[in-house]
Amino acid sequence: MCGIIGYVGRREAAPILVEGLHRLEYRGYDSAGLAVQNGAGVMVTKLAGRVRALGELLGRAPLHGTSGIAHTRWATHGAPTTRNAHPHTDCSGTLALVHNGIIENADALRAVLERGGHRFTTETDTEILAHLIEEAVGQTLEARVIAALALVEGTYGLAVVSATEPGKIVVARQGSPVLLGIGDDELFVASDASAVLEHTRSVVYLDDGDIAVLTPAGYSVLDRESHVQLRAVDDVSWDVTQIELGGYAHFMLKEIMEQPETVRATLRGRLLPEAGSARLDGLNLTPEECRAIQRIVIVACGTSWHAGLVGRDVIEELAGIPVQVEYASEYRYRRPLVAPGTLTLAISQSGETADTLEALRAARAAGSRVVGIVNVVGSTIARECGGGIYLHAGPEVGVASTKAFTSQIVSLALLGLYLGRARGLPAERGRELICRLIQLPQLVTRTLALEPDVQALAARFADARNFLYLGRGVNFPAALEGALKLKEISYIHAEGYPAAEMKHGPIALIDAAMPVVFVAPRDAVYAKVRSNMQEVKARGGRIIAVTTEGSDDLSGLVEHQLRVPATAPLLSPVLTTIPLQLLAYHIAVQRGCDVDRPRNLAKSVTVE
Ligand code: G6P
Repeated sequence: MCGIIGYVGRREAAPILVEGLHRLEYRGYDSAGLAVQNGAGVMVTKLAGRVRALGELLGRAPLHGTSGIAHTRWATHGAPTTRNAHPHTDCSGTLALVHNGIIENADALRAVLERGGHRFTTETDTEILAHLIEEAVGQTLEARVIAALALVEGTYGLAVVSATEPGKIVVARQGSPVLLGIGDDELFVASDASAVLEHTRSVVYLDDGDIAVLTPAGYSVLDRESHVQLRAVDDVSWDVTQIELGGYAHFMLKEIMEQPETVRATLRGRLLPEAGSARLDGLNLTPEECRAIQRIVIVACGTSWHAGLVGRDVIEELAGIPVQVEYASEYRYRRPLVAPGTLTLAISQSGETADTLEALRAARAAGSRVVGIVNVVGSTIARECGGGIYLHAGPEVGVASTKAFTSQIVSLALLGLYLGRARGLPAERGRELICRLIQLPQLVTRTLALEPDVQALAARFADARNFLYLGRGVNFPAALEGALKLKEISYIHAEGYPAAEMKHGPIALIDAAMPVVFVAPRDAVYAKVRSNMQEVKARGGRIIAVTTEGSDDLSGLVEHQLRVPATAPLLSPVLTTIPLQLLAYHIAVQRGCDVDRPRNLAKSVTVE
């Protein structure tokens, strides 16, 4: 989704801004642009297309100046054209503005501004902000920004520069993340830390309602009444090498391969082998509070929602608490029925997904306690939850989520263990699960050794037009996740289904042109899934089975087997998902797709 980077300091701004935009490319975008301030005013360069093309354009027609703002746009209002790309300017071209989010009363504001003589040159909601600030009365740019924003409904993270106040950037946040990067004699503004990491790891996360003013002399944070606010300076724990390719062809592959380490990082310091329990201090739930929980509602989107489905089985099994898993986007608009004793759990890699954030706010407003499972430290969801579990999986750059998913499942297993032990799960069962968790990183390494087999398989199936993924129990979400990965990055239509539900519809699709991927480790439902394979085979379907090492009763029935090591059934999706991630990756590569920047997708969906 849209990205913002801004710079004030003593160096040339344009190369820093372009580099920052490169760091934000992973969020997903369709156009890019920047505005630089210099003695001649505010100069804007923008285009529909890639940041690299913007860099080339600036190579031919450089913009000089030591402060500026830049943006990658993911179109919402208006097509992804050069004209609609940010920055947007006012009538006179005196000020330029970049914006993430959506202005909801854009039509009404535009009509008023047009009646007042403002001329609009784009179809974007963002341009309205530039004209509103132009129209606003105030001694300083920040005063005019505050006055303009008083009229705005919607969400924004924005940065503005004006020729009348050289060397100043005014920033505002409402519902769309913005942070300041604090360097030596220079300051940055960015929509996420990866854009500034190579310059500084000291950041200030702005809160909703904050206005920040950046000049080479320093920064201040104001509220809507222009009162100065104190905001803590935080340290980002990752470094720049973690957001670089490190020799891999794509971030997605790098992140798939990192999973032994990321699973280990999620577990680190959290296992209590003797007590057969987990240490989850950040959750802020005492054993008494765990015992008082009557119901858990999980809210999430996309891959995180799939992890939530695994979490349901894990928590119900280990803790005996009924769990319901909700699409955050649906939940937030339903009548919130929060019974006493409800705990709402938001799962989000980025911690910024707008629907998940609003769902957790709705649950809290209805009286629920809220906790989060989040990867990005300091993100909005993490800060708004009363407690939670950080994944510690490091930055995930590939748009298709991989390592976050496996770490989410591991976190949910830790949560199930913690809740379970507080509610009567025998220590012995806790200890068994801990043994399995300790082994898990090694088993992930063994699973990754399947890569050459998966690559060969990908070459054979890269031309398929449809795929069906089937699984049962805790591996039904793995099937959903496998299908999602494939469609996200290879654009092949793929559906995930509970294996037994196949008979109620998808079976009509099965023929020799339809590969069917079964997620079938040896567990309590293995024999049932095997029968479902027979049904596919009887109709001429081509079967790929992800199963457990040592399973040898599938030959003759399936065309290909990918065998993962045995583990506790509840943890099996951590392993069964990995060959599916690799399959999607290699098929997408075979088809020449832009794996890390799939069309239309955004890494962090900060609008509804
Ligand atoms: C987007 C991403 C998905 C992700 C989903 C939820 O759609 O492309 O990979 O699963 O958002 O994101 P979150 O950051 O809340 O886990």
